[in-house]
Amino acid sequence: MADECLFANAALVLPDRVIERGWIATEGGLITEIGEGDAPERGQDCAGDTLVPGLVELHTDHLESHYAPRPKVRWDPVSAVLAYDAQIASSGITTVFDSLRVGSDADSASIGEDLMALAGAIASVRNANLLRVDHRTHLRCEIASPNVTAQAEEYLALYPADLMSLMDHTPGQRQFTSLATWKAFYARKTPFSNTELDAFIDQKLATHQRYAVPHRRWLVEAAREAGIVLASHDDATAEHVAESACDGVGIAEFPTTMAAAEASREAGLKIMMGAPNVIRGGSHSGNVAAEDLARRGMLDILSSDYVPASLLMAAFDLPRRVPAISLPEAIRTVTSNPAEATGLTDRGAIAVGRRADLVRVARHGDTPVVRHVYRAGARIV
Ligand SMILES: [Fe+2]
Repeated sequence: MADECLFANAALVLPDRVIERGWIATEGGLITEIGEGDAPERGQDCAGDTLVPGLVELHTDHLESHYAPRPKVRWDPVSAVLAYDAQIASSGITTVFDSLRVGSDADSASIGEDLMALAGAIASVRNANLLRVDHRTHLRCEIASPNVTAQAEEYLALYPADLMSLMDHTPGQRQFTSLATWKAFYARKTPFSNTELDAFIDQKLATHQRYAVPHRRWLVEAAREAGIVLASHDDATAEHVAESACDGVGIAEFPTTMAAAEASREAGLKIMMGAPNVIRGGSHSGNVAAEDLARRGMLDILSSDYVPASLLMAAFDLPRRVPAISLPEAIRTVTSNPAEATGLTDRGAIAVGRRADLVRVARHGDTPVVRHVYRAGARIV
């Protein structure tokens, strides 16, 4: 933790308003004072740049891109974690939930088996105090996978988890309600021929029949026992949402239809959508657009999903796309909203007493540029 620091001559995005020119004092890793106009003494001149709270990212699988940069390549896990950490920090993220897959899926047959290697690497660099960002764990559990509960059990015996999502990517389910969409999506990601893909689908349907229900029950119970926040994934219907609510799920991760989003809102679940979905103006797999949910007041949390830099971009872009949303409201979708949904009440806002997690942002045209990043008052980028 850094000692005293004073940030002067910056626009400040507070939870409910923007101070066009102001200053922030920090001490012992916390924000101690906020003011408008000239700073009381000489501080770091932010040259009119904008200060926003450090971003809180709940769902990024980007570690996989560093660990498995080619389908059959596995990079050194420690080196992969450090490169990923640097990329996350330079995207303005100060708290990240590393998404680790539990249970194999069509496009990640062996990544699941590498779970413990990645978990071990993260723990070793965390213990050596080598990480820039505050890393937490999001276990992404593929409920129809035969090995999901065994892997979760092995992981939870050794490492903590802070968020757990229940996924079902079986052909014909949720994200891919039609088999044709599923085939189009996975054909690009797997080495299978068309006939092999058909056989694979049959096998997936059989494992779903056998495992999805009992595994879901096991995982919900494990999360309850360990006090881990639960997220649903790709809910498509009101029935999916009812099941989520019944299981004590707090976050609806990427609902795929307007109906599922409406039901989530009704059930009091926080709705999380992908930031790339905002920037691209729609979902890459043909599901509901995040912007449409935002327009109807149903977007609580953004996640960078597969592009870390998208989180800050989407938060700055949202007010332009949906004028009813102010910049402070948009910034809340990437800071205090995800923090509160996961029980982190010490961060996520520029407010006295909160952690001094701060991002200094300049602009290049419409693109936000991360200049400096501070975690608990200490500069990490
Ligand atoms: Fe999905």
